[in-house]
Amino acid sequence: MLKLAILAYSSVLFAKVVTSAAIALSLTAPENVSQPVLKSFVSFSIEFSSFPDFAGNLSHPNNFSYNLLKNLGDLQGSNPIIRVGGNTQDYATFNATQKEQLIGTVNANRSRDYPTTISIGPSYFDSYSTWPNISYIHGFNLGKNGSIGHDTLVDTVPLVCKALASPDGKSPKLAAWQLGNEPDLFKTSAQGPVRPSWWNETDYVQEWLNKTRSVIRALVMENCPEVVEQGKFSFYAPSFAGTSNSLNLIKTWDQGIDADHDIGFVDSHNYIGGAEQPGVTLQGTLMNHSSTVASVAKHLNESRILRSQGVTQPYILGETNSLYNQGKPGLSNSFGAALWGVDFNLHCAANNIRRVHMHQGTNYRYASWQPIQTVNESIGTKTPYYGNVAVARFLGNEGGRAENVTVSEIDLSESESGASIYHSAYAAYLDGRLARLAVIQMQAYNYSSPSSPGSSQRPVERFSFQLGNDQTGTAAAVKSITAEQLIANGSDAITGVTFGGYSFNYELDEGRPVMLKNISAAEDVQIQQGGVFLVDVPWSSAVVLNFAY
Ligand SMILES: *[C@@H]1O[C@H](CO)[C@@H](O)[C@H](O)[C@H]1NC(C)=O
Ligand SMILES: *[C@@H]1O[C@H](CO)[C@@H](O)[C@H](O)[C@H]1NC(C)=O
Ligand SMILES: *[C@@H]1O[C@H](CO)[C@@H](O)[C@H](O)[C@H]1NC(C)=O
Ligand SMILES: *[C@@H]1O[C@H](CO)[C@@H](O)[C@H](O)[C@H]1NC(C)=O
Ligand SMILES: *[C@@H]1O[C@H](CO)[C@@H](O)[C@H](O)[C@H]1NC(C)=O
Ligand SMILES: *[C@@H]1O[C@H](CO)[C@@H](O)[C@H](O)[C@H]1NC(C)=O
Ligand SMILES: *[C@@H]1O[C@H](CO)[C@@H](O)[C@H](O)[C@H]1NC(C)=O
Ligand SMILES: *[C@@H]1O[C@H](CO)[C@@H](O)[C@H](O)[C@H]1NC(C)=O
Ligand SMILES: *[C@@H]1O[C@H](CO)[C@@H](O)[C@H](O)[C@H]1NC(C)=O
Ligand SMILES: *[C@@H]1O[C@H](CO)[C@@H](O)[C@H](O)[C@H]1NC(C)=O
Ligand SMILES: *[C@@H]1O[C@H](CO)[C@@H](O)[C@H](O)[C@H]1NC(C)=O
Ligand SMILES: *[C@@H]1O[C@H](CO)[C@@H](O)[C@H](O)[C@H]1NC(C)=O
Repeated sequence: MLKLAILAYSSVLFAKVVTSAAIALSLTAPENVSQPVLKSFVSFSIEFSSFPDFAGNLSHPNNFSYNLLKNLGDLQGSNPIIRVGGNTQDYATFNATQKEQLIGTVNANRSRDYPTTISIGPSYFDSYSTWPNISYIHGFNLGKNGSIGHDTLVDTVPLVCKALASPDGKSPKLAAWQLGNEPDLFKTSAQGPVRPSWWNETDYVQEWLNKTRSVIRALVMENCPEVVEQGKFSFYAPSFAGTSNSLNLIKTWDQGIDADHDIGFVDSHNYIGGAEQPGVTLQGTLMNHSSTVASVAKHLNESRILRSQGVTQPYILGETNSLYNQGKPGLSNSFGAALWGVDFNLHCAANNIRRVHMHQGTNYRYASWQPIQTVNESIGTKTPYYGNVAVARFLGNEGGRAENVTVSEIDLSESESGASIYHSAYAAYLDGRLARLAVIQMQAYNYSSPSSPGSSQRPVERFSFQLGNDQTGTAAAVKSITAEQLIANGSDAITGVTFGGYSFNYELDEGRPVMLKNISAAEDVQIQQGGVFLVDVPWSSAVVLNFAY
């Protein structure tokens, strides 16, 4: 399978090079560069009901998942942070005598993709001990009200303490806390409302404060007081589904949600569109920079208003991916979606969304990997993972100095194809100096039915950059540039992706990087006189360039 894919790829002749005028590339960070990204910018959210599949248990740790996480940690200098949550966190109740980690019942009327009746036992929390050196956010149940909800919280807080707290302060396992997933949909959920129509921001905030104070904090003080002493009693909140649902994030701050000063991160969720939404296409919805910009703009607006009100916590996306309802087959699992993922994440980074958790679940169409074999989906690394790799590589491992990496979006309107919605470029600066450049070409190239009639040749967009077009930087300071390509047969490919010539496939070495033959590895880019260099980017591919001084 894999060999065939590679042969097919190498037989494609790239043609029809389109050249562009030189795009100025500053060697020093421009004034409007982003704030530094947070450590673990590339992070994940794993569906609560799927977590045992992804992590395994004490006797059967899921090493494949761990290998994939560690690759990203090695590339970006800090392992991804895992938020365990999603819709199913608000369905899960606790049974102290249950042996199984999780017993779930699927009701296809509510969702085909995950159980909506869930009971977890004490062994559920064993999955927090299978991966070394990974930290977590456990999503507590807010959806269940009344005594069941109360009992679930009371029973599970001590178990989370036991699983994640670090009495000696040396274990990095606890990243943050979370109570409730997308409470802005509680009144309107298509899976059945869990709050009455009158439940507004005031009611939500009162309930959130009451439960975080009188239940969670009280039990933490009793079971793992070091969490508070170590400054780790810090929440991701309010974890709303979006910016225009039945509760408004700004109003929750007005209503005093941070009265206890325990919200460490302003957490919002985002999807570009819905899997079943009419008119959704790969080119129009995902491989479309304008679509990504419009989707992220709602959050930038919200974050700007919060900052103007003196809220200083970082704004992050604690759950996001391409298309809600777990993604659309042929779109969310295609190589085009991997390219979308690179554009989306880098656009976030360039605009002060400081960490992004890509949502995962067993059998989900948009998943970066399938952790176990099921009747619906084979175990394996999926195309979106390669987008995660490119983002982590772009941010770079600077020996834990993520806090000095800033990102800037490059204006491509000077390029020959102008202000196209089908390409984008970003620069990463380390200590204010140009370190890497990413160029993403998003014109769909459908290899299974090439778009240009009568031709199977894949067009290439040529970008011409001019280094050091500013007062301080001189092009001569750059000694060399190397390029690593993110590529597959086309935007419709669902296998055969490589980054810099590496595959991370399950079949090769259980997700560890394997350099493939017959695929171009990192290549040197020639710097011409005057600091001009050319980058040829085939349609439906991306490239990450590294600058050495
Ligand atoms: C930063 O400034 C450049 C050039 O002045 C502009 O093209 C770009 O849109 C700005 N970026 C942001 C995020 O404001
Ligand atoms: C651990 O995982 C293995 C393999 O999936 C499974 O057979 C076993 O029952 C699990 N153990 C527990 C306690 O759930
Ligand atoms: C998983 O990794 C652990 C730690 O490296 C190792 O002890 C164990 O044998 C591995 N399990 C499998 C099934 O490879
Ligand atoms: C844990 O991961 C961090 C990066 O996230 C790394 O710096 C550190 O060396 C790792 N520790 C161990 C024991 O592997
Ligand atoms: C809890 O689990 C035990 C052991 O499986 C089972 O007998 C009992 O019925 C469960 N309780 C509830 C309320 O489901
Ligand atoms: C699902 O909906 C159908 C049609 O409304 C109904 O007959 C069936 O009982 C429902 N199933 C469940 C488990 O609620
Ligand atoms: C609890 O939720 C139910 C809907 O599931 C609702 O009817 C009830 O009013 C809620 N109670 C409170 C106090 O929110
Ligand atoms: C929520 O509803 C109550 C009762 O109607 C009202 O007093 C309060 O102002 C409302 N809160 C908001 C934020 O609108
Ligand atoms: C606050 O929490 C306590 C203890 O769980 C509960 O009895 C009470 O009803 C809650 N009050 C509100 C307003 O939610
Ligand atoms: C690209 O996205 C923008 C913004 O959502 C939209 O207006 C435009 O129609 C999209 N382009 C295509 C070709 O669908
Ligand atoms: C941005 O916020 C303003 C209020 O300050 C609002 O009027 C506008 O509709 C918002 N735009 C978006 C895209 O959410
Ligand atoms: C970050 O950069 C500043 C100057 O740009 C430098 O003083 C500081 O040491 C750097 N921090 C780290 C952790 O490298």
